[in-house]
Amino acid sequence: MGRTIIALDFSGKEEVLSFLDQFPDPIYVKIGMELTYGEGLEVIREVKRRGHQLFLDLKLHDIPNTVRGGMRNLARLGVDMVNVHCAGGIEMMKAARQGLEEGSAGRKRPLCIGVTILTSIPQETMNTELGIPGTVTEAAIHYARNAREAGLDGVVCSPHEARAIHEACGQDFLTVTPGIRLAQDAANDQKRVATPEYARQNGCDYIVVGRSITRSADPYQTYLAIERTMNS
Ligand code: C5P
Repeated sequence: MGRTIIALDFSGKEEVLSFLDQFPDPIYVKIGMELTYGEGLEVIREVKRRGHQLFLDLKLHDIPNTVRGGMRNLARLGVDMVNVHCAGGIEMMKAARQGLEEGSAGRKRPLCIGVTILTSIPQETMNTELGIPGTVTEAAIHYARNAREAGLDGVVCSPHEARAIHEACGQDFLTVTPGIRLAQDAANDQKRVATPEYARQNGCDYIVVGRSITRSADPYQTYLAIERTMNS
């Protein structure tokens, strides 16, 4: 299966399924809170029934016991990747992993990925409003080290941080990177974008691509071209 995860940022189940109909083979997709809260878990089960790999991007953040129970149930859905906010702390991240193991019973455990500093938070806000010192990259690396210590499989980060995170946490610690644009695309609302080629050169393990694929004239061909770049 590929290293390109397509973000299915559609508002309804029908749109999701007709988009997936354009792909002859299973792909790796990401579903987030808008679709999950709007459509319920049925859309997740249907995507899995169709054989696709699924990153369920719900970013859990609560006390350890609650996260453990939530993760146990997410694992039972048979999803392939889930995430938590690293800001919940090491105990919470350990509990997330434990819940996933409990819910997987005999099946492959979903990968558990930590969200470091949201890209919507500039350094000034992080320093003054949130009270976290240093640069955003320093904070992201600090959170990534905590995630590694808690036994998480990797973190979500910017393609520009992937190399430093691998250096700090090891090459086998996964980096999952959104903010990808093809050279010819508009950046839209993304601030610091990178191409798939840049992402590959910087060691990103998975890239999350939304609009560059979903809004392209031929999503399947665009996806194949990106996958070729990521695997070259
Ligand atoms: O359309 P686009 O390629 O910008 O979509 C990127 C996807 O990755 C969206 O689902 C967005 O919510 C998600 N994401 C992001 N930046 C982060 C974390 C998640 O763009 N830091």
